[in-house]
Amino acid sequence: MASRGAVGIISTGRALPVGRVSNSDLEEIVETSDQWIKTRTGIEERRIISNDETCSGLAVAAAEKALERAALKPEEVDLLIVATVTPDQPLPSASCLVQARLNTINAAAFDLAAGCTGFLYGMNVAEQFIKNGTLKNALVIGVDTLSPIVDWQDRNTCVLFGDGAGAVVLAPVEDGRGLLASKMFSDGHKAELLYVPGGGSRFPAAQWTIKERLHYIKMNGPEIFKFAVTVLVDSTRHVLEMCNKTPGDLDFLLPHQANIRIINFAARRLGLKREQVLVNILRYGNTSSASIPILLDEAVEQGKFNEGDLLALVSFGAGLTWGASVLKW
Ligand code: ACO
Repeated sequence: MASRGAVGIISTGRALPVGRVSNSDLEEIVETSDQWIKTRTGIEERRIISNDETCSGLAVAAAEKALERAALKPEEVDLLIVATVTPDQPLPSASCLVQARLNTINAAAFDLAAGCTGFLYGMNVAEQFIKNGTLKNALVIGVDTLSPIVDWQDRNTCVLFGDGAGAVVLAPVEDGRGLLASKMFSDGHKAELLYVPGGGSRFPAAQWTIKERLHYIKMNGPEIFKFAVTVLVDSTRHVLEMCNKTPGDLDFLLPHQANIRIINFAARRLGLKREQVLVNILRYGNTSSASIPILLDEAVEQGKFNEGDLLALVSFGAGLTWGASVLKW
C-alpha cells in the first residue's frame, strides 16, 4: 500500500442567507407556536434564501472565505466536492457552477448527495485522494437550500429547516494530526422516512405531480428521531474505537443540528458535558449538509479549539445515511 500521510482541515468558511424567519413569522403561515417549536426542536429562527440568492451562490461565498484563509489560489485547488441535495438545477452539477465562479480551473468537480451526511461523506472521499498522494488538496463544501422544496403548508417539516453553506480546505498536515478515523453508513431500506418523490426522472414535473405536492419534502419525524439518537451515539463510539479512543478522550462533539433533543440525548449517552457539545440550531435550524461545516467555522472563529483538541463530527440524514469522523485539531 502507498504511504499514508495525515490529512486535516486547514481552513473553514461559511455563508448564510440574509433573510431571517422567526418562529413567530411561522405562526402566520401554519398552525404552530414559538413555544412548540422552541421546546420540541430548540430552533428560534432560520435563514431563508431570497429570489436573488442560490445554492451555488452560498457555496461560492463560503468557499471564497475558506480559500482565502488557506492562502490557496483558485488555480491551486485539485478537487472540489459540493455536498448537496438541492443543486440550482438538475444539470450541470452545482459543483461545476461553483467551479466556474471560483475559477478553480485545475480542479475536478462533482456533487455528492448523501442528505445531511453529505459533508462528512465529502470529507471522507476527499481525504482518500490526498492520503494516497493522488491530489494535494481539496475544497469540500456542504450546502443546502431546502426552503424551495419544503412544503410551507406542512407544519411537521417547514419549521425545521434553514438554508446555508459551509466549506473546508483539506490538505496534508503533520503526522498524528487531522482526520484520525472516519466511517460512512447507509440504509436505503429506510428511504421513505425522508424523501422528495417528484422532480427526478421517475416523476418529472407535470401538472399532476404539482397538484399532488410531490416536489416537497415528506418526512416521518418520529421514526427519524429514534434512528438519529441511536446512530449519533453508535457512530461516534465506532470512529473513536477505530482510533483507540473513548468518549472520555473527546474535547468537543460537533453533531448535525437537526433537533436539540436529539443532540442532548446523544450527549448524555456519551457522557459529555454541555460545553463540550457545540450547538447553533437555535439560530439556523437544520441546514442539512451545511450544518456541520457552519458549526465548525463558527467555533474556529470563536477560538474554541486548542491545538491537539480531539473533535468528533457526527451526522445522519436522508438515504438514510449516517457517519462520523474523529480529528485532532
Ligand atoms: N407546531 C405545532 N404542532 C406540531 C408541529 C408544529 N410545527 N409539528 C407537529 N406538531 C404536532 C403533531 O401534529 C402532533 O400532533 P397530534 O398529537 O395531534 O398528532 C404533535 O405535535 C406531536 O407530533 P410528533 O411528531 O410526535 O412530535 P415530536 O415530538 O416527535 O417532534 C419533530 C416532531 C420535531 C419533527 C421530531 O420528530 C424530530 O425532530 N424528528 C427528527 C426530524 C429530523 O431530524 N429530520 C431531518 C433529518 S435528516 C436531515 O437533516 C435532512
